[in-house]
Amino acid sequence: MRTAIYPGSFDPPTYGHLDIIERAAGQFERLVVAIGVNTSKNPFLPVEDRCSLLTECTGHLANVEVMTFHGLLVDFARSLDCRVLVRGLRAVSDFEYEFRVTMANRRMAPDIETLFLITRDEYSFLASSVVREVSRLGGDPSPFVPPSVAQKIAERLK
Ligand code: PNS
Repeated sequence: MRTAIYPGSFDPPTYGHLDIIERAAGQFERLVVAIGVNTSKNPFLPVEDRCSLLTECTGHLANVEVMTFHGLLVDFARSLDCRVLVRGLRAVSDFEYEFRVTMANRRMAPDIETLFLITRDEYSFLASSVVREVSRLGGDPSPFVPPSVAQKIAERLK
């Protein structure tokens, strides 16, 4: 089965992430949305919330699963016998970071390929960090995230 992994922090998941998930799910038999757990970072939303929100928001896509992983992404990919990673690219500013990580992953795992999907233009500015900042400063995140995510953010900031 052709499996791809779409990894990220998804803190919180945005419409931009969902756009990439929907488009990637159309290209592979199975898409694993993989939430990287970074124990040295203090997350905005707990990983359990990100996992349940992503599961709910992708419920209409039968070939999408949501998982969490610790450690190296390439080790997680190998544990699933997966050889394809998908990342979204918004603007040129994403490129340098993505280039570095892709090169490091390729050096560690030459058999694993990274494919990039260019974001739809209406989401080209959208990042989880923007959503966190808007929300923390009292703005309404609902133009950027699905209603269930906006509700979870509101609960988190209560
Ligand atoms: O959405 P993000 O924050 O850009 O996602 C980053 C993520 C989780 C995909 C990345 O940090 C990651 O792969 N972390 C696992 C550790 C790893 O394998 N790093 C790559 C070598 S530098």
